[in-house]
Amino acid sequence: MKFLYSSAALLLVTAAQALCPYAERALQDPSFLKRHLEKQESSQDEAANEKRQSGPGGIPFTTFDKNQLIDVTGDHAWKAPGPNDLRGPCPGLNALANHGYFPRSGVVPLTVGATATNQVYGLAINFGLPLSVYATLVDGDVVGDTWSIGGKQPQTVTSPILGAGDGLSGSHNKYESDASPGRGDYYLFNGDVSSLRVKKFKALYDLQKNKPVPNYNLDVLIQHRKYTFDDSKNTNPYFFFEPFAGVAVANAAHTFIPALFSNHSTQYPNGLLDKQTLKSFFAITEAADGTLSYKPGYERIPNNWYRRPLGAVNEYTPASFAQDLVKIAAVVPEAVSVGGNTGKVNSFTGVDLGDITGGAYHTTDLRNPTKFVCYFYQITLALVPDFLRSEALGSALGSALNLLHSKIDPFVDPKCAKIANYNDTFASKFPGGAIGQP
Ligand code: HEM
Repeated sequence: MKFLYSSAALLLVTAAQALCPYAERALQDPSFLKRHLEKQESSQDEAANEKRQSGPGGIPFTTFDKNQLIDVTGDHAWKAPGPNDLRGPCPGLNALANHGYFPRSGVVPLTVGATATNQVYGLAINFGLPLSVYATLVDGDVVGDTWSIGGKQPQTVTSPILGAGDGLSGSHNKYESDASPGRGDYYLFNGDVSSLRVKKFKALYDLQKNKPVPNYNLDVLIQHRKYTFDDSKNTNPYFFFEPFAGVAVANAAHTFIPALFSNHSTQYPNGLLDKQTLKSFFAITEAADGTLSYKPGYERIPNNWYRRPLGAVNEYTPASFAQDLVKIAAVVPEAVSVGGNTGKVNSFTGVDLGDITGGAYHTTDLRNPTKFVCYFYQITLALVPDFLRSEALGSALGSALNLLHSKIDPFVDPKCAKIANYNDTFASKFPGGAIGQP
């Protein structure tokens, strides 16, 4: 019997040695095994990082060039916002204003909204321009063609009589949404949707705890998406997820983190988002004991930060986002649907998109990249007039609608289904469905 055991042990050692050249030493020295496995995990992580961070359609970037470096000196040196400067719920935009790529006031001309996000982050113009047009028309100054990245912008001589817009911070359920990556829900934080909630940030931050090569890539952000969606569902009786602010913006706010904050290098041409870079963009500092602190308005582009490469195949387009959304839907299907809680926590009820769009789009279409891209533009064309008409703009309404069509129509594939009858009554079935409340 004893002979049998020792023969079996010998066989095991020989087999292990054949499989792995380090096996004999590992069997004698467990700490060697641990070090060896950690090294392996690290090189697997690096290989995975190379694979996962890539351009549209999962095609890896082939080039890295030092001209991807973003200047953070001279006119673009970081400065804290002054007392009258506006900052809000979007860390990417706050950082642009803090570095003078946007006016430091936080009031942004429509075209600068698109060009600066393209040049500094590699967000494609066919994505940034619609976002900037939408901001101008639903939260901005529709006559002066500017919008605020934070609260209400100052009235100017060109502003409409009823005032310039409320800015991104005042755009709940129009632009800003519940279930954001780091900001709190409107109802849970008495309308403060601009401040980062450190608990939420920490949930994301800790997803790469003890990783040999921390990287907040899309897979990690999808895990975080599950957490943020469930968190709103389980804690906010008024949780509401709108056809544009929720399905498009709040999900994009998750995918933008790996797609646009990652740092690129010769070693990582496809980008790597490490802890330091993540904290810098989110205005977070970490004490020696690991405590995280947030300083509102202190979002910063790190030194030696290289954006993704520019050019049609590299920039982040609505089509790139549509592909990322399919991956989100595979893990968090509800996050790719319109709906909300019905006054109690954990009562999320979806609405068929067909009822909202007069049958032009259905909920399942949101998981079809070609149809989602159509939806992205068509929902903008349907929603903006809906919001504009509720604002009694008088004679400014016609020019606002002209602006909408002149900027968005060129991006729209004529084969896309149009939303001729947008029906916003679904929102009244949800206690959290009203604009700017509860
Ligand atoms: C004109 C372009 C843009 C507009 C109008 C815009 C607007 C917004 C809005 C309204 C939100 C709040 C979303 C929500 O409530 O869930 C948001 C969040 C966010 N945006 Fe932007 N954004 C733009 C470009 C960018 C860019 C270029 C980046 C990255 C480089 C970015 C990164 C983010 C992130 C990470 C969040 C989530 C913040 C959090 O929850 O803590 N955005 N943005």
